[in-house]
Amino acid sequence: MPTTIKAIKLGAFEYIPKPIDVDELEKAIEKSIEIIKLKHKTEHISTITEREFQKNEIIGKTKEMNEIFKTIGILSTNRVNVLIEGETGTGKELVAKAIHFYSSFKDRPFVAINCSAIVDSLLESELFGHEKGAFTGAISSKKGLFEIAEDGTIFLDEVGELSIELQAKLLRVLQEREFQRVGGSKTIKLNARIIAATNKDLVSLIKKGKFREDLYYRLSVANIKIPPLRERKEDIPLIIKYLIKKINYEISNKIKNIEEKAIKRLITYSWPGNIRELENVLIKVSLQTKGDTILDSVIEILLNNSNGLNLTISEDDAKKRDGSQIETEKEKILSALNQAKWHYGQACEILGISRPTLNKKMKFYGIQLKPRQ
Ligand SMILES: Nc1ncnc2c1ncn2[C@@H]1O[C@H](COP(=O)(O)OP(=O)(O)OP(=O)(O)O)[C@@H](O)[C@H]1O
Ligand SMILES: [Mg+2]
Repeated sequence: MPTTIKAIKLGAFEYIPKPIDVDELEKAIEKSIEIIKLKHKTEHISTITEREFQKNEIIGKTKEMNEIFKTIGILSTNRVNVLIEGETGTGKELVAKAIHFYSSFKDRPFVAINCSAIVDSLLESELFGHEKGAFTGAISSKKGLFEIAEDGTIFLDEVGELSIELQAKLLRVLQEREFQRVGGSKTIKLNARIIAATNKDLVSLIKKGKFREDLYYRLSVANIKIPPLRERKEDIPLIIKYLIKKINYEISNKIKNIEEKAIKRLITYSWPGNIRELENVLIKVSLQTKGDTILDSVIEILLNNSNGLNLTISEDDAKKRDGSQIETEKEKILSALNQAKWHYGQACEILGISRPTLNKKMKFYGIQLKPRQ
């Protein structure tokens, strides 16, 4: 009993007494792999498998996307560092994974590190590992992510968030292609390829003295700039189709069509959150769709909502907002109705919403139907 307790306390996954039962041992190993995977998922670190990657295609037929596909092709044959720039939700992580999984190193680890999600004091030991006793709390030695990545890929996400101190350390590691664990003296070779990503404008950070220019050049031996969705609107219909297929597969297999008008509306919208926002809108829409067709009216409400016209869709949403905001919306509708002399069509035009939306809003705000004078 004391040995078992001590072992578990020190972090053992299982304690198997001799004589070893091979089945039991196998089960314990499988279980611990599951635990490790789970732990990695919840800790801003992810290693993914090729099968997981294949579920996520990169969709696009515009010239800009084609250039990116070509670059991914070229990068699959070499090991240079890559910097991926793009607004939030444009697919930076997707591109990083593609570079890895199209290369001959695809069977080696792909280790993703979100530089903004780890506190600075821990980041160094997360990246480079530490020896037992290197600092308080270092009860055993630990491999860092650079070591875990072996000769695979290290994906440094949100690299613009790295502190100046860590930028200096990273630069040294990239220059020397070797590093040491925190508190350690053994030199470990860096064999992995580095792919960094950022949604910040690093050049302007350099000007402000917040990002090291020499590190920038080290990281951006190859450079991929992913354009925002609003600059490649021709891709939107294709991406919509792909995302609906994905949603059907992952959530509910029911959407068969989407109204032409709805597609037009989605093309016109500016997508500040890019493809991630488009995906979120489509998920919400498909959850709200009763039949098998996505209706323009549902999309209209959702986009208006995220676009600041401030018209609520559900009571739940409304409850979360403060009274004054609701009053303003109600007033907006009432004033439009008055202005249009209660001609609903005209009021809709003033508000820029559809007739069913107006009906819903009026019902929600308890605005009585008033006969036209
Ligand atoms: N071209 C594309 N085709 C299909 N799906 C895409 C495409 N680009 C992005 N996506 C999807 O959009 C979502 C966001 O992509 P990803 O996480 O790679 O973006 P990101 O640029 O890393 O965003 P952030 O800066 O917010 O971290 C993912 O679900 C991804 O699969
Ligand atoms: Mg990302």
